[in-house]
Amino acid sequence: MVTLTAPARAYMPSFIDAMREGFSRDTLRPETPEAIAVVAADPDAYLAGFGNPPSHITLPDGSQGEAVPATMLWCVEGDTFLGSVGIRHRLNANLEKVGGHVGYAVRPSARGRGLASAMLADTLVWIGANLPLKRVLLTVNAENPASIRVVEKNGGVLTGQVPHLWRPGETALHYWIDV
Ligand SMILES: CC(C)(COP(=O)(O)OP(=O)(O)OC[C@H]1O[C@@H](n2cnc3c(N)ncnc32)[C@H](O)[C@@H]1OP(=O)(O)O)[C@@H](O)C(=O)NCCC(=O)NCCS
Repeated sequence: MVTLTAPARAYMPSFIDAMREGFSRDTLRPETPEAIAVVAADPDAYLAGFGNPPSHITLPDGSQGEAVPATMLWCVEGDTFLGSVGIRHRLNANLEKVGGHVGYAVRPSARGRGLASAMLADTLVWIGANLPLKRVLLTVNAENPASIRVVEKNGGVLTGQVPHLWRPGETALHYWIDV
């Protein structure tokens, strides 16, 4: 059975395989062999990071930015890692433009099976049960038709678009979904 759950040790070998396959923890930055090796060398330290989130994160341009409270959920089947959803509990100035409340990714070998659509649907239920948010912002690159479809299938309403903060020349579409 496919479920959304907290990251845990049982999924780490598959999570590392997924990164080697092309899954990236940050949709704006591909993984590097060095970054994957750090996780593979100490999976427990990587998992512990979810319990001790940093107050600052490195932004795509290399500068330091505020890290908002966030929850990571993994989509798994048995011990197999399939994808992830990052839920930002609130927005800040950058996330209001690009990032929004929810970001997701599915490992390459599991795409095209409806997983992202199901993950987002389950995530909206999770947010309704756990956060005081009545609606959530999702920002989608205008050149990402699969993600646009995922958002629209989940009730996303296009409210505007902005120049992409981190990808010059590209556009981020703004969608809001009622929780
Ligand atoms: C975007 C992504 C999450 C989609 O995951 P997925 O599990 O394959 O998505 P789903 O199978 O639930 O649905 C994809 C939908 O897009 C459609 N689609 C896929 N490629 C498409 C394309 N090139 N043009 C139009 N529609 C497309 C599929 O047909 C499907 O729609 P359907 O259910 O009506 O048939 C996945 O490709 C991914 O992880 N990409 C990298 C990270 C990323 O872009 N994340 C989103 C950031 S906003």
